[in-house]
Amino acid sequence: MLLEPRERADFDLDELIRGGTGLRMSLLWIALAPHLDREVEVTRDECNLLGQVRSTEWAPVDGLRERFGAAAVDRLLGIGLLIGDDEAGAHWRDRDERLTDTHWHPLSAVSHTFQRWRDVDSSAALDESGMRSFRDLIDKLGEPPPAVLERVPAALRVALPRTPDSPLSTLLQQRTTCRNFDRARPLPAATLAALLECVFAAQAVHAVTDTAAVLKKNSPSGGGLHPTEAYLLLQHVDGVAPGLYHYHATGHALEPLPCPDAQDPAALAALAQRMVAGQHWFADAHVLVVLASRVYRSFWKYRSHPKGYRALVFDAGHLSQNLYLAATELGLAAFITAAINEAESERVFGLDHLQEPPLAICGFGWRSQTRETVEFDPLGRVWGQ
Ligand SMILES: Cc1cc2nc3c(=O)[nH]c(=O)nc-3n(C[C@H](O)[C@H](O)[C@H](O)COP(=O)(O)O)c2cc1C
Repeated sequence: MLLEPRERADFDLDELIRGGTGLRMSLLWIALAPHLDREVEVTRDECNLLGQVRSTEWAPVDGLRERFGAAAVDRLLGIGLLIGDDEAGAHWRDRDERLTDTHWHPLSAVSHTFQRWRDVDSSAALDESGMRSFRDLIDKLGEPPPAVLERVPAALRVALPRTPDSPLSTLLQQRTTCRNFDRARPLPAATLAALLECVFAAQAVHAVTDTAAVLKKNSPSGGGLHPTEAYLLLQHVDGVAPGLYHYHATGHALEPLPCPDAQDPAALAALAQRMVAGQHWFADAHVLVVLASRVYRSFWKYRSHPKGYRALVFDAGHLSQNLYLAATELGLAAFITAAINEAESERVFGLDHLQEPPLAICGFGWRSQTRETVEFDPLGRVWGQ
């Protein structure tokens, strides 16, 4: 748990009438506890109490009530900031044990938990801020830092030869984030299979013991542990029913998951749009792929490691780039977004944010013939000059 001192500004009419700014500032203490999944305001006395109760040893509750007052102890027990060993504390104890058993680094657990979104519409927020385009940003925020960093004067640079195009460089130049998908053109199941195999399938299984295995995939992975799972929302795939799936990496198979919206295309599209935080330009993709990290697969080795969470994020990034490239080679289009309502993906796929947190959503499908939402294609490889 992290205790954050936070300043709050409240409107105060009396203050305004007295000739002030009309704002009354107050300092609050906010408890950020990953197992609670919500911020809790605490008093200074409660902060003091929390700072004196050990997290590694049980303390008799009567002794705490005597020292700090029954009201404060019972309130903190009730909201889960103190964990009780009785029946009433079972729910918070279970959440707390999950956190401990997963071996998160404490700061990473706090940071991840409280960076998640619920019910955010980032497209509406863009409109409200008036900062949709890069030019809007410059108008509001002033000049950005230069696009290129120069550490020495130009005369000191060591010029490097340019290399001729190769199949890989040509493919890389065609990779452009897609924000225009063709809802009317179904994706063949074989194309879906080809992409999933290239990006998410185990290419080899190395058995270390009778029960423990290491997978070889087409992307690097911290510790070779490959903790990132692919959860799919399929909308327009020929031969595969719309709905939610998990990809099985050694079976190269789709595992169907419960999806009440599967029979209703409008409801499924609305779910997709909520998952990508209102970005309607991504919600039309034939396939959404939620990249969710099986945390303990990685933290089993990187226990409470300060870099553990960073490795999970890198893992997802590598998979995303491979997904972009595989899609491009197959004539498809792809995207990634970190602007996601994690809470929505957690809900529909049944993911616990401490055990299998969604980190990003990728997607792919056929690109539309018409460009309604902007894409960045200065080389004209996708849309022509
Ligand atoms: C981590 C990450 C998050 C991104 N999030 C968004 C997003 O929320 N919405 C969006 O439209 N594009 C998103 N993008 C795509 C970028 O806007 C895009 O990569 C960038 O504009 C460069 O264009 P290009 O990918 O076509 O080269 C994201 C890309 C990355 C790598």
